[in-house]
Amino acid sequence: RVAAQFTQCMPVPQQLTPTRRSDGTDVYRIPIKTAQFAFTPGKPTPVRTFGGTFVGPTIRAKTGTPVEVTFTNQLDVTSNVHLHGGHNASADDGYPMDLIAPGASRTYHYPNKQQGATLWYHDHSHGAEAENVYKGLHGFYIIDDPAEAALNLPSGQYDVPIMIRDAQIDANGTLVWPSSVPDRTTVLVNGVAAPYFQVAARKYRFRLLNTGNERGFRLTLGGLPMVQIGSDGGLLPAPVTRSDITFTSGERVDIVIDFSRQAIGSKFVLSDVSGPVLRFDVTRTAADTSRVPATLRALPALGTPTVERNVTMRFDDSGNVGLVNDLPYDPNRVDFQVKRGATEIWNVTNTDTVWGAPHTFHLHLEQFRVLSRDGAAPTPDDAGRKDTVLVMPGETVRVQATFTDYLGKYPFHCHFLDHSSIGMMAQMEIVP
Ligand code: C2O
Ligand code: CU
Repeated sequence: RVAAQFTQCMPVPQQLTPTRRSDGTDVYRIPIKTAQFAFTPGKPTPVRTFGGTFVGPTIRAKTGTPVEVTFTNQLDVTSNVHLHGGHNASADDGYPMDLIAPGASRTYHYPNKQQGATLWYHDHSHGAEAENVYKGLHGFYIIDDPAEAALNLPSGQYDVPIMIRDAQIDANGTLVWPSSVPDRTTVLVNGVAAPYFQVAARKYRFRLLNTGNERGFRLTLGGLPMVQIGSDGGLLPAPVTRSDITFTSGERVDIVIDFSRQAIGSKFVLSDVSGPVLRFDVTRTAADTSRVPATLRALPALGTPTVERNVTMRFDDSGNVGLVNDLPYDPNRVDFQVKRGATEIWNVTNTDTVWGAPHTFHLHLEQFRVLSRDGAAPTPDDAGRKDTVLVMPGETVRVQATFTDYLGKYPFHCHFLDHSSIGMMAQMEIVP
């Protein structure tokens, strides 16, 4: 089934206004509820949403200004909310067992004591995150900071979040669940299959986020360079010109595209190996005083590691259970005790020799740095502050993180949610 391409405009998720500002805190309320959404025009299908839209509303936060979000669960199943990339107390992290029962509410506190970065919020209910995120429980949470603002990168309407994921949409327009990877042939861009986006002939910042359950994309842009300025945890030290970008479930890539030398009427297709994803149509001129400075933001110094650990990810022989260090997730078991303040190296190996499946490694609470990939220098896809990386079968990715302040239990897991939901998750406890 070949869907019509470039017939719909790419929507930009609505930015949420705080319901109030009290004591310097931005307060938001978001219902978690079922809504109807038409992936195929004229054929609405039920989805699970934050606030009624398939891509939830964008929360725009500032470094140092706390945000408080009260989520009310209006679904008939439990939910919870994890702020992916957030540096938050364990009680506010969306721990898989901290569930919001149907009809109940929970307030999450995000102090935003972290630098500017593209984060996202999504369901993390024990065993149900794959279904819930697939059905639409995902949204952007963007942190701005003054140092980044001073760089004068493209901003305002020229700073556009783009959520890319796959889905199985049948002939009736239904979002099919359960569904498996080969059937998820529709690529949604902010919820719309193969849309166009009208741009002015100037620079744009695009914050790419992959929310596919179990999906990598390799993106190219018909001849135009993509200038990467940031990754999961914020700005890179310097811009990097990329001709192709590979990113997998949970990862963010922040790019600038300069359309200023392109004629009005020209069109550029962002493509994955599977086909076209999004078309940029240059339709007008616009003033542009933004720039991409040669220096963005230095990475924090790497601490001195005192602990080294090994993490393996694979399926069991049946293929129905996901394992980390040969065990399925058990919320009653602490897999690693981490000392607060420690800098650690984790060797993350995909040991999936039976199934040969790629996996991804995601750490809650702290950003890490990729030190090496199978002993070689990290690729451009691994650069900067990272919280999620791809680990191919047989591969070992060596990462380093410093556990700065919070105590308590936090998960780490494969961010292919189809895998984490069946056990490919473990937990650490940060102790004094
Ligand atoms: Cu984006 Cu533990 O998840
Ligand atoms: Cu996996």
